[in-house]
Amino acid sequence: MSFLELVQKRQSDRSYQDKPVEKEKLDRILEAARLAPSACNGQPWKLIVVTDPEKRCKIADAATSKMLSMNHFSKQAPVQIVLVEEGSNFSSTVGGWAKNKHFAHLDIGIIASHICLAATDEGLGSCMLGWCDEGKVRKTLEIPKNKRVILVILLGYTTQPIHEKKRKMINEIVSFDKY
Ligand SMILES: Cc1cc2nc3c(=O)[nH]c(=O)nc-3n(C[C@H](O)[C@H](O)[C@H](O)COP(=O)(O)O)c2cc1C
Repeated sequence: MSFLELVQKRQSDRSYQDKPVEKEKLDRILEAARLAPSACNGQPWKLIVVTDPEKRCKIADAATSKMLSMNHFSKQAPVQIVLVEEGSNFSSTVGGWAKNKHFAHLDIGIIASHICLAATDEGLGSCMLGWCDEGKVRKTLEIPKNKRVILVILLGYTTQPIHEKKRKMINEIVSFDKY
């Protein structure tokens, strides 16, 4: 599969089979995550892999809103990866402060992308969940109160066929040599 094919195949999967993810696949996905780039190589992240059924259920509840009809499918996924923001190194923190950019959030977006693309490469579905009750996730996973929970990523064998991607046209988002 070429890189473009991999990108075309990755999608947010919102329905999962009742089938566990093999440890070797998960290990390769985590290795792809570990190798992600970050500002000044600060690696401002901690990944908590959640497979325990009771904890998964609590995290899924924390990500679900009946009122907004959000993330009701999250209980189905056999693996969750919770991305916690950690302090970065001195260069990244000072550089971000000087340039008014919070590099850690960009870095976590990049590692999330590595995880989801690696999952696709392993024949797995994935979905990033930005909407969750951070307090409940912290409590379930014993994450210190001063840490931010940035994303939850669901992984598992999807039941969904590949769907067409709705995106802006290339000429709406790309320009050459000027804005
Ligand atoms: C930072 C971020 C947060 C997201 N949060 C959610 C979420 O809480 N629930 C959900 O169903 N999808 C969520 N998504 C998935 C997006 O809705 C999805 O990527 C987008 O609609 C494009 O569709 P595709 O991923 O299938 O290509 C999130 C995606 C990103 C990048």
